[in-house]
Amino acid sequence: MNRICLIAVLLSTVLGFQGCSGQEGSASGGGQVAVAAEETPVEKFCSGCHQAPKPAAHKPSEWPGVVQRMQMHMAKIGKTLSDADRKAVIDALTQTQ
Ligand code: HEC
Repeated sequence: MNRICLIAVLLSTVLGFQGCSGQEGSASGGGQVAVAAEETPVEKFCSGCHQAPKPAAHKPSEWPGVVQRMQMHMAKIGKTLSDADRKAVIDALTQTQ
């Protein structure tokens, strides 16, 4: 009788361990989602059709015109860039110069 109890305890301990590691797995999955949310605005909005451009590709005074042209490309495939998103993208592309 005692031996059967011991086996049951051991089994549930093993099963309990598996449950814990399963939870750790989903917790790290949530962490990956958080990393994705930390994309820069340029990566988020400007890497869908080509690689995200480098700030050095244009002078700060040129970026608003480039982004405006990109909005026309986006409109053709039904995507839009809100005023706030456009500002965030232009800020990111011009602030490092
Ligand atoms: C809907 C697709 C699409 C998205 C999204 C897009 N682009 Fe473009 N991009 C294009 C196409 C097509 C070209 C080539 C034609 C041209 O230059 O207009 C291009 C070319 C470029 C070029 C090279 C030409 C140049 O003037 O230097 C830059 C820089 C650029 N895109 C920046 C951006 C930025 C910044 C964003 C985010 C706001 C962005 N793109 C988002 C389609 C896109």
